[in-house]
Amino acid sequence: MLKGVRTQSPAELLAQVRAHGRVPRHIAIIMDGNGRWARERFMPRTFGHRSGMTSVRDVIEGSIEAGIEYLSLFAFSQENWDRPADEVGALMSLLEEYVEREADELHSAGVCVRVLGDLTRLTAAAGEAVGRVTGRTARNDRLILNLFISYGSRDEIVRAARALATDVVEGRLAVDDIDADRLGARLYTAGCPDPDLLVRTSGEQRISNFLLWQLAYSELYLSPVLWPDFTRSDLYDAILSFQARERRFGRVSV
Ligand code: FPP
Repeated sequence: MLKGVRTQSPAELLAQVRAHGRVPRHIAIIMDGNGRWARERFMPRTFGHRSGMTSVRDVIEGSIEAGIEYLSLFAFSQENWDRPADEVGALMSLLEEYVEREADELHSAGVCVRVLGDLTRLTAAAGEAVGRVTGRTARNDRLILNLFISYGSRDEIVRAARALATDVVEGRLAVDDIDADRLGARLYTAGCPDPDLLVRTSGEQRISNFLLWQLAYSELYLSPVLWPDFTRSDLYDAILSFQARERRFGRVSV
C-alpha cells in the first residue's frame, strides 16, 4: 500500500493478522530503496541508510507483536563491499551504532540477535560490537533476529559444500549420506526453519543472492514502498497477503 492512502491503523491491521491465526513463523526481508529515498530528498545515500534504521526498529517491534518467531534482515551483501568507500564506511559505522544503541532494548524485549555472513571482513570495531550483542542476547527466544551482514548466498552454499567434502575426505561422512538436511545443517541458518515469507521493498523484483537455498518454497511479497518509509503496517499488509494464500509445496490442494 502506498504511503498516505492507508485507512486502517496498525492496531486494526494487527487485530486482523491475529484473528486469522496462521502467522508466518519466519519472515525474511530485503530492505531496499534507501538510496532512492535519500535522492528524492536531495540528500546523500547515507541519509537514507540512517533513516532506514527507524524502519528496522518498527518492523522488529511489529514482528514481536504479531508473534513472528524469526525475522531475517538483509542489511549488507558481499556485493555491497564494492560500493564507494565512504558508503561502505558509513554502513559499517551504522551497524556498529545500531547494535550498541539498541542492545539494551533488544535484550529487554527478549530478542536474540544473530549476525550471519562473512564476519572476517567487518571492521574490528563492528566485529566487537556484533560479538557483544550476540553474546548478550544469546539466551533470548521471543524473537530470533538474523541480521545478514557481508552475506552472499552462493558463497554460503559453497562453504557448506566444502565442509561436507572435508567430512567425506576425512572419513566422517559417506558420499551417499549427503542430503538436503545435511547441507542445510552447514549453512549459516542451521537450525532456523526456512522463511515462510520473503518481503522485498522498493518495487525491485529480484532475489539478489539472498537465501537461495532457504527460499525454495517461500511466498514472495514485493512492496513498492522504499525501505525508510516501510512500517509495521506494511509488514502487516504482507502477512495478511500471506494469510490469504494457499501453500502447496509443489503438491496439489486437498
Ligand atoms: C539497500 O538500499 C539497503 C542497504 C544496502 C543497507 C540496509 C541498511 C539499513 C536499512 C540500515 C542499517 C540496518 C541495520 C540492521 C544496522 P540501497 O542503497 O540499495 O537503495 P537504492 O536501491 O535505492 O540505491
